[in-house]
Amino acid sequence: MNENDFYDDLSGALERSWRLLEEAIENPTSPVRTPVLISVGADGVAQGRTVVLRGINRQQRQLQIYTDVRSAKVAQLRAQSICSLVAYQPNPMMQLRLGVDATVNYNNAITYEAWAVMPGPNRCNYLTDPDPGSISVQATDGRPVINAESMPTHAENEIAYSHFAVIVFTINQLEWLYLPRRGHRRARFVWDAAGSLKSDWLIP
Ligand SMILES: Cc1cc2nc3c(=O)[nH]c(=O)nc-3n(C[C@H](O)[C@H](O)[C@H](O)COP(=O)(O)O)c2cc1C
Repeated sequence: MNENDFYDDLSGALERSWRLLEEAIENPTSPVRTPVLISVGADGVAQGRTVVLRGINRQQRQLQIYTDVRSAKVAQLRAQSICSLVAYQPNPMMQLRLGVDATVNYNNAITYEAWAVMPGPNRCNYLTDPDPGSISVQATDGRPVINAESMPTHAENEIAYSHFAVIVFTINQLEWLYLPRRGHRRARFVWDAAGSLKSDWLIP
């Protein structure tokens, strides 16, 4: 997209934002592919961590990530589903701050479909024993030893799948910040419960 298509154009800025997210799914080297997910812990303190974007549905304003159902983030998102995703592209400098509502999918059609096409070594990520985040007396990977050809056994596959979750985030707010030398631009897009969009320029 040409800069003139979005620099002074709100709908262009939104289009540029969607393209950033779509490019992140298509291109494994895109920095936007690994945003920070910020949830709220039981103590009310914000908890941020890097995640990998695995899917996008622009019509439904949804993004997808994969995770271990035993991880702290899942308990946090089940208790408080409203959370944030923040992504940054350095060149040119663009930041996306997404206000999202998270749904944890577990042992359903969405997890089944994702698992069916997941390579063996990736499936092994869900075999840590004990649970992710447990204290360990020794430095350890926590998984069985794997290589690029690793395929879990039938029994291991069952266990790994029982730990697998897909989190779907519905975007209710998107804030775009663009920092070129000629002058900064900041725009906010908010969808209400009926899906109506309110778009505003903000002072950067
Ligand atoms: C580059 C990178 C990508 C990551 N992707 C994921 C991911 O897609 N899903 C995930 O659960 N954790 C991912 N992690 C690990 C998380 O950042 C985090 O350390 C882990 O999930 C535990 O977080 P929690 O205890 O808050 O649940 C990734 C870490 C890095 C550095």
